[in-house]
Amino acid sequence: MTVSGINNICVVGAGNMGHQIALSAALAGYKVKCTDSQAEALQKADKFVDTYLPERVAKGKLSADAAKAGRANISFTPDLEAAACDADLVIEAVLEKLELKRGIFSRLDQICPPHAILATNSSFIVSSKIADVTRRPAKVCNMHFFNPALVMKLVEVVKGPHVAEETAQTVMEVCRSMDKVPVLLHKEIYGFLVNRILASLSTEALFLNDMGIASCQDIDTAVVNALGHPMGPFKLMDLTGIDLSYYIAMERYQETGDPAQKPSPTVVEKYIKKEWGRKTGKGFYDYSDGKSR
Ligand code: 3HC
Repeated sequence: MTVSGINNICVVGAGNMGHQIALSAALAGYKVKCTDSQAEALQKADKFVDTYLPERVAKGKLSADAAKAGRANISFTPDLEAAACDADLVIEAVLEKLELKRGIFSRLDQICPPHAILATNSSFIVSSKIADVTRRPAKVCNMHFFNPALVMKLVEVVKGPHVAEETAQTVMEVCRSMDKVPVLLHKEIYGFLVNRILASLSTEALFLNDMGIASCQDIDTAVVNALGHPMGPFKLMDLTGIDLSYYIAMERYQETGDPAQKPSPTVVEKYIKKEWGRKTGKGFYDYSDGKSR
């Protein structure tokens, strides 16, 4: 399967990442069906498309024709079978729960045509932990986008030992056709490239804050103004989700048995209180008025 054989893309999961991955693909000319078991997530995603596209046109960032074509290319359905039955490529972007993903991949393997590539957008779960539930492990790989997926260019493509070279190269080409910048990891490693680097930064930021050395705001200010990052680690955790920071750290702790990998007390507290960042209206900052405070 080469990129010329990819016309239909199915995105499973219409949440934080899924809806923007789906729209990026639709704007690149693919026929995209986005599915989610939660009706509310689908409605929200559909509404987002209706708001986002006219805004881009009004801003002069997108032509009216391109917006119209993008809108026509994307549809939303709660029915996984209807979404995936004619897919050439599936991008799974559901919650970071291994058993959930394995269940979905097992179903996708039954539903999708034999040529279809099944990719996971997981932030840290390597595809070899999923591929064995399918009869096509050579066509199962990681395709990891960054938040917000409509804006961030990078995609990490991970070639685990089971992944065919053709699969990895096709996925890289699909990324380029979506105006993304793919990088290829030749071996599987937990957290890939970016989340490993980011974890070091946020672990240190949380430590400095937990020690009372400086406030979240001042640490963010320092990182933005000294290192030139577009946003500091606390604002970024609010954007990507503190629930995700918790899952990542817990998974890493369970994998390594190293207590130093456990989520920081602050992350645990915010996870329990459901203060997960922008998605719940409060994280390290307060978003109840639509802006961060
Ligand atoms: N969805 C879509 N587009 C968005 C957006 C969103 N949530 N937020 C901002 N944008 C767009 C705006 O429309 C604007 O587009 P334009 O310049 O073409 O008109 C552009 O991004 C800039 O937006 P703003 O001027 O409103 O705000 P900023 O200049 O502060 O940019 C940002 C916002 C793009 C989020 C920027 O702060 C940034 O790049 N932050 C870092 C993000 C980052 O590091 N992401 C990676 C996280 S790690 C990850 O995703 C791993 C995963 O596993 C969790």
